[in-house]
Amino acid sequence: MWGQELLAEVVQAGDLVVDLTVGTGQDTLFLYQLVGAGGQVIGFDIQQPALLATSDRVTAAGASVRLQPSGSNQLQRQPGIDLVLQSHAEISHILPAAPQAIIANLGYLPGGDHELVTQPESTLRALAQATALLAVGGRLTVVVYPGHPGGAEEGRVVTEFFTQLEDENFHVIQLQVSNRPQAPFLFVAEKYNQEG
Ligand SMILES: C[S@@+](CC[C@H](N)C(=O)[O-])C[C@H]1O[C@@H](n2cnc3c(N)ncnc32)[C@H](O)[C@@H]1O
Repeated sequence: MWGQELLAEVVQAGDLVVDLTVGTGQDTLFLYQLVGAGGQVIGFDIQQPALLATSDRVTAAGASVRLQPSGSNQLQRQPGIDLVLQSHAEISHILPAAPQAIIANLGYLPGGDHELVTQPESTLRALAQATALLAVGGRLTVVVYPGHPGGAEEGRVVTEFFTQLEDENFHVIQLQVSNRPQAPFLFVAEKYNQEG
């Protein structure tokens, strides 16, 4: 929830925002509630059941949803929610403009196949594109789950990514539960400048 609160501080109605890991759609719904019917949420997942569950969730909340197939090209900047059946490693081909907020909840789909988990290589590609694409003044939040097989390794490479993010362009904080080593931990990067 910290991640959501820290994103909410920089998002306004009408903004373009991105969910890199749609899952069951809790974050997608949260983002939709921030940007409203006049804003645009673009969400990615590699599992069709995740996108369909999310579509049901946000439609019930009154959102207008467009399901985008794998192999989609750049989307239009228009109100509503686009749910894209594609890896988040492809975001730079899909986004129509600079997003104000990007959220990622790594790991596996709750209640789904634990083998279909985010992978360090594609996660890093997504984070590199996300930080390049983010609007100045925008924030990226990433929740890392170190407890499942492969999670600690993903946590290591994500930590290295944020540790090396150029400090002339980004403020980065990490929030971690000090008394529970296996607990998820959060990175928040705010882009305050765009150079290069
Ligand atoms: C922890 S769940 C996300 C939870 C979600 N944010 C929510 O609010 O319910 C992680 C999701 O990432 C998805 N995923 C795994 N690899 C992916 C990739 N390369 N691109 C996009 N989504 C991916 C999984 O299918 C899974 O649904």
